[in-house]
Amino acid sequence: NNLDQLYRRVIMDHYKNPRNKGEIEDGSLTIDMNNPTCGDRIHLTLNVEDGTVTDAKFDGEGCSISMASASMMTQAIKGKKVEDALKLSETFSNMMLGKEHDDSIDMGDIEALSGVSQFPARIKCATLAWKAMEKGVASDSNPN
Ligand code: FES
Ligand code: FES
Repeated sequence: NNLDQLYRRVIMDHYKNPRNKGEIEDGSLTIDMNNPTCGDRIHLTLNVEDGTVTDAKFDGEGCSISMASASMMTQAIKGKKVEDALKLSETFSNMMLGKEHDDSIDMGDIEALSGVSQFPARIKCATLAWKAMEKGVASDSNPN
């Protein structure tokens, strides 16, 4: 249907024109993670200052869903408080697992990935960048 087509277009746009691709030169957090089921990998750099994600960039190789999701993730968390970024991540993860989630949160472009939840094998593709972000934030030695 039309919504599926729109979503597919949003995903392909992020895949072909990734936002925040690259590496932050002096990023405060660096995370490397791979998807064990396929070996695809993400390299994420974050800047966190005073509890706010001030910058986020990603690099890596992967399928269109994983790369589009990484692009959407960096776009979504930039400028957000760490706790709000984590809340968004939790909401996205629940959405992927088909669990109940907070529909009051504006998912923006991320909503386009909602259909992936119907394909269990691809859920890890969609959540890879988010897991990397969570790991990075958890490792932050200077939270607040
Ligand atoms: Fe529930 Fe989109 S917010 S699937
Ligand atoms: Fe490897 Fe999607 S197939 S991340």
